[in-house]
Parts: sequence; structure tokens; C-alpha cells
Amino acid sequence: MRTILVTGGAGFIGSNFVRMVLAEHTDCVVVNLDKLTYAGNLENLGDVMDDPNHRFVKGDICDAGLVEKVIDDNKVDAIVNFAAESHVDRSLVEPGIFIDTNVTGTLTLLKIALERKLERFVQISTDEVYGSLGVEGMFIEETPISPNSPYSASKAAADHLVSAFGHTWDLRYNITRCSNNYGEYQFPEKMIPLMINNALNDKELPVYGDGLYVRDWLYVYDHCTAIWKVLTEAQPGEIYNVGGNNEKTNLEVIGVILERLGKDKSLIRHVADRPGHDRRYAIDSGKIMSRLGWSPSVTFETGMVKTIDWYLASGKWLDNIVSGEYQKYYESMYSDR
Ligand code: NAD
Ligand code: DAU
Repeated sequence: MRTILVTGGAGFIGSNFVRMVLAEHTDCVVVNLDKLTYAGNLENLGDVMDDPNHRFVKGDICDAGLVEKVIDDNKVDAIVNFAAESHVDRSLVEPGIFIDTNVTGTLTLLKIALERKLERFVQISTDEVYGSLGVEGMFIEETPISPNSPYSASKAAADHLVSAFGHTWDLRYNITRCSNNYGEYQFPEKMIPLMINNALNDKELPVYGDGLYVRDWLYVYDHCTAIWKVLTEAQPGEIYNVGGNNEKTNLEVIGVILERLGKDKSLIRHVADRPGHDRRYAIDSGKIMSRLGWSPSVTFETGMVKTIDWYLASGKWLDNIVSGEYQKYYESMYSDR
């Protein structure tokens, strides 16, 4: 795989993926197409912006003319589609943009990938397309799709489009469905960086409902290695779940953050729940582990120490985000909660 188009490569997971590819697969050129929404941040890419194997293009995946030009000019072989509106809470306020980017944007990429006969199209999806679990069981690749939020519904629609292009026109695709990621460069609207930022500033930690919702946490670098394996080793048409086998309640995760930062549990404040809140996610990663030999490189405990320490050392990065539009976002989501 010589040249890959990474979309959404200035976001959290995309920027970690770009950095990993440039560092570990030096024969690969990465063309990075990102609209730079509130979640896209060139500071996430600081150290790789000057890498000769990295070409950044600001633009929208819904812009077919631009996508065609980027693919043709750079002789792109494959697309890895990270670009998305990614936050469940925002999808409850403004679902339309989730349809625009996550569905129409993906459709735009699919049509061009097919026309240009690209070697591979990898769709970065989510375990949320499977819906919610009760106290037992895990999502496997055959679990029926049953999304519950506008965000997950838009991601599920995109997954269906991707597999329909494979079924109907033999597009060479894969879909990855990963559980919750944590790690460096995550925007502080998501639970872990939001709680770290608040705790650092001795602000209340807004826990939705009883705080006993369960997520299966995976360190972002380990998600990136899984995607690379799928891109380079998987048979076309295969879907892979990716998870950390790390089920934790939100209160357990917050406990780890408070302990590392030496802050008190009295900062925790239970607030109104997220409407339609999925109770539990758990991913069975058996297929990617046995077929592609993937496994996570760090435990949750080690990954969390790396993450919290990175936020402690990245005050300027965090300040640049939380001093801007973020203030308004935080007010609108949390002031009356
Ligand atoms: P993010 O919100 O941090 O980044 C999304 C990026 O996409 C941003 O850089 C943004 O500018 C860009 N973007 C948005 N709309 C665009 C458009 N129309 N055209 C071009 N670029 C656009 O998201 P993330 O957490 O890094 O998630 C990346 C992908 O992984 C998403 O598809 C998400 O659904 C999926 N995913 C995320 C998680 C998680 O825990 N964060 C878990 C599983 C899957
Ligand atoms: O499972 C994969 C998904 O994980 C990805 O597809 C999404 O892009 C990603 O945002 C994430 O979705 P979640 O909704 O699980 O993540 P979030 O960080 O928003 O919330 C994690 C849990 O924490 C969830 O139970 C809600 C809770 N929460 C979240 C926030 C922001 C709180 O209790 N308080 C908060 O302020």
C-alpha cells in the first residue's frame, strides 16, 4: 500500500493513526483530508506536518470534486475513512450534520473509490451500531445492527452503504467497529479528557445518571495498529470488531483519574442523564486476534497513566481548546443539567 487517503486525520484517532503510519511504515505516503471542524486541530499533527510523506489538505469529504482531485493528484491506492461527527451528545442537539458528514460524506467517498477502482476502502465504524447490551454478553460481528442515537444511526447507515457497494459492485472494503478509545489528543468533550480537564481545574465532574454505565476502553494506539492490520492483511468484505476487553463503569474510570491527579471524590456531581443512554458496550475481539494476530499493547492501567500524564504535560494544547468556542459548548451542555 503506497499512498493512502486518510480522512479526518486532524481529529483524535485520525491524527494518532497518521503519526503511527509515518513513524512505523516509512514506505507509505499519507494524504490527510480534513475539514477542520471544531474537532479537527492541526496542533494534533504538529510534529508530522513537515514530514515529506504527509500531505495535508483542508476540505470536506462531501465535496466530490475536491476528493477526486486529491485522489488523482496523489495517485491514492486506498482510503481509510475516519472523518465524522463523533460525539453522541452533539447528535442529540444537531443531528443533521451527522447525516451530512457520516452518511452523505461516506457515500461521496464510496462512489469515487469505486470509479477509481481503489485497492481498498476501510470504514472506521463503531461498536455503537450494535446498540446496547444488558448485564451479560458481548458484541460479535454478527450481532444485529440496532443503533440508538442519531450518531450511531448515521454510522450504521454508512456501514450499510459500504457493504452494499461491496455486495453490488465488488468494492474492496473492510469495516472496523471499535469500542471507546482514550489517549493523547482526544477533544475534551468526551468523558475521559473532560473529566481530566475539570479535575485539573477543581471543577465539578458531571456524571450522567448513576454513573454505572459500562464502556469497553481501548488505548488509541492499539486501535490504530488494528486498523493497519485490517488495511494491509484482511480479506476484502470482512468486518472486524476491535476492543480492549476492559469493561469499566464510568465511576471506576473517574476514580482512576482522581487518584492519579490526587483529587477528591467530592468533585463528582451526578447530573441529568443522557436521553437514550446506552447502558453497556462490550466487544468480542476474537476474530481480529485469531485471524490477523492483533492484540492490544498496553493494559488499561498503563494506558490511563500515559494518557493522564500526557494531558498534564500538554497544558498549552488543552488551554488553546478550552479557552475558545469550547466555553460556549460547555455552558450550553452543562449549565442547566
Ligand atoms: P473526532 O471528532 O476527534 O475527529 C473527527 C475528524 O473528522 C475531525 O478532525 C474533523 O475535522 C473531521 N471531519 C468532520 N467532518 C468532516 C468532513 N465533512 N470532511 C472532512 N473531515 C471532517 O473523532 P474521533 O474520535 O477521532 O473518531 C474518528 C472516527 O472513529 C469516527 O468515524 C468515529 O465514528 C470512529 N470511532 C471513534 C471512537 C472513539 O472512541 N472516539 C470509537 C470507535 C469509532
Ligand atoms: O463506543 C464507541 C464510541 O465511544 C464512539 O463511536 C464515539 O465516537 C465516542 O464518542 C464514544 O461514545 P460514548 O458516548 O460512549 O463516549 P463519551 O465519552 O461521550 O461518554 C462515555 C460515557 O461517559 C457514557 O456513558 C456517557 C458518560 N459521560 C459522558 C460525558 C461527556 C458522562 O457521564 N459525563 C459526561 O460529561
